[in-house]
Amino acid sequence: MLGELTATRDGAVVDLGGRRQRAVLAGLIMLRDQVVPADRLVDCVWGDQPPADATGALQAYVSHLRRRLEPDATARQRDGVIARAGPGYVLRLAPDAVDAWAFEAAVESAAGQAPSDAVCTLETTLRLWRGPAYADYAGEPWAQAEIARLTELRAVARERLLATRLELGEAQLVIGELEALVADDPLREERWRLLTLALYRAHRQAAALEALRRARQVLADELGVDPGPALRSLEAEVLAQSPDLDAPSPAKADNATPLVPRPRKPDGLVDRERELAVLRTKLEDLKDGRGGSVLVEGPAGIGKTRLLDELRKLAVADGVLVRSARSSALEQGFDYGVVRQLFDAAVDDVVRRDERFAVLRGLYEITADLAKDAPFVLCVDDVQSSDEASVQFLAYLVRRLDGLPVLVALAVRSGEPHDADDLLAELAGNESTSMLHPAPLTEQGTAALVADRLGRGAEAFVAACHRMTSGSPLLLRQLLRALADQGVPPDVAHVDTVRAVGSRAVTSLVTLRLRRMPATVTTVARAVAVLGPVADLMSVADLAQHSEEDVASALDVLARSEILVDGHPLDFVNPLVRDAIHADIPTGERALLHERMNRRLKSSSSRPGHAGTPRS
Ligand SMILES: Nc1ncnc2c1ncn2[C@@H]1O[C@H](COP(=O)(O)OP(=O)(O)O)[C@@H](O)[C@H]1O
Ligand SMILES: [Mg+2]
Repeated sequence: MLGELTATRDGAVVDLGGRRQRAVLAGLIMLRDQVVPADRLVDCVWGDQPPADATGALQAYVSHLRRRLEPDATARQRDGVIARAGPGYVLRLAPDAVDAWAFEAAVESAAGQAPSDAVCTLETTLRLWRGPAYADYAGEPWAQAEIARLTELRAVARERLLATRLELGEAQLVIGELEALVADDPLREERWRLLTLALYRAHRQAAALEALRRARQVLADELGVDPGPALRSLEAEVLAQSPDLDAPSPAKADNATPLVPRPRKPDGLVDRERELAVLRTKLEDLKDGRGGSVLVEGPAGIGKTRLLDELRKLAVADGVLVRSARSSALEQGFDYGVVRQLFDAAVDDVVRRDERFAVLRGLYEITADLAKDAPFVLCVDDVQSSDEASVQFLAYLVRRLDGLPVLVALAVRSGEPHDADDLLAELAGNESTSMLHPAPLTEQGTAALVADRLGRGAEAFVAACHRMTSGSPLLLRQLLRALADQGVPPDVAHVDTVRAVGSRAVTSLVTLRLRRMPATVTTVARAVAVLGPVADLMSVADLAQHSEEDVASALDVLARSEILVDGHPLDFVNPLVRDAIHADIPTGERALLHERMNRRLKSSSSRPGHAGTPRS
């Protein structure tokens, strides 16, 4: 099952017949030694369009399978593998006869083994994987939960394997593999934790801290959250060089296996020709000694950071120096935090001056001095969370770029209140500023990214991906990662899978963000999800049982966080976000909300002006 469904008997491959017939076996394997009702198997084979005589057809499949699996027995004795039981069938197979079962058992048993045995067990069992779990049935609703469970189990097994090797003193040897794991799924904090620990133990403290910084960035960018307790305490320990971080046993003599990190998937940039052209022109100007500024503005996930990255790449290719900083909400309270990131210790004396103006003047002189040596690019990402003092400096600087070979490139998230309004107004009014507003991805761009990740996609499949993500590169990437993990082929038959897989993929993104908000906001978001198109201030207030004032301010927060669109009618920024929130409502609460809604609908159905049907 860890790949395409195949079977062997005494070492020889068994022909299991067509896709439907094999689905019967897959459906049985999924439930292990439980009786699988015939209805459920019919579901596995035909979905919601069973033929008229489904039971008969199912019996035929079962008997064909039996003949293939037990060719030597007589027809009446062929129940050694698939046995009839009550309303359905049950498998009689040894626990190690199915790779998925054996895999699960091995991962469990490794947990209780000595490290060197555990490494051996995990390595062997991970080799059982020949492809995505239940690869033949990737898009089938009945297989979703099991595929997700096995995929998660594999991720955990890979992490445990590297953790155990780390425990055995192989810090240097696992760094490359941990980098690859992190690249594969940067939202799993355990991977960052292991990478940091490995770097630290390999006597690369600076790189260890850098890894933590990257983790913080990714989590802030993609989920809008801070690292969890494990990463936070690790950071403190690294800074304190705590002896607790040392490997438990003295490092073994390293064997000289070279480190070969796995190749990364191509991560192409699409739909940004115009922006890239602007950035190139700006760089040309800079090389000719003319400074200027670029402001990239847009909602979370639209690709602002990516554009700054592209600028950095172009600059490096041209041999132009880049100084960058990135603001974070955590450091917003520290004066000149961003400035220090840009200039390091060189500004220490200057920022200590008493007078604000003297500081600004001093910083400007430092900038001008540096530019005299060589033109450079000054990049600041997420200006909306920059400390106020640094923003003031940036505003001061952009007014004085005439004759100064410095290109100031800033990215700011729209729709969030911040202290940078003066700076932004300054930039917008300045002739030398290029404003970039990266647009949602086009359908062609989406098609290219689908092809990168899953192979050439059918038109309807691409259209579904595009619609579900509303052109957000962040959501699309999240969606494609999940589809690739589950081996979903990008064909017409899997159009419906996009939504199911997609909503699960963005669930963590959305619900984590939501959980950081006050309880009222969560309740209101849930009420909007349940109400669907009929949602308005009053009905939401009624369902959420909060005052209209509270609901109005919660709706504001949701719009600013880009969960709801800003404006009327109330709606989510896209269907995946709505699905994710709806799916995250605890069962009890959902029942309650639906009941309140039905009561509302009944009492208002006599009144005119209530059109639209609620979503389930
Ligand atoms: N034009 C694009 N083509 C392909 N991928 C993109 C594009 N823009 C952004 N991405 C990817 O989408 C994700 C989110 O982009 P990011 O730049 O972090 O968004 P923002 O900084 O606006 O929140 C990143 O993984 C990025 O590489
Ligand atoms: Mg960003």
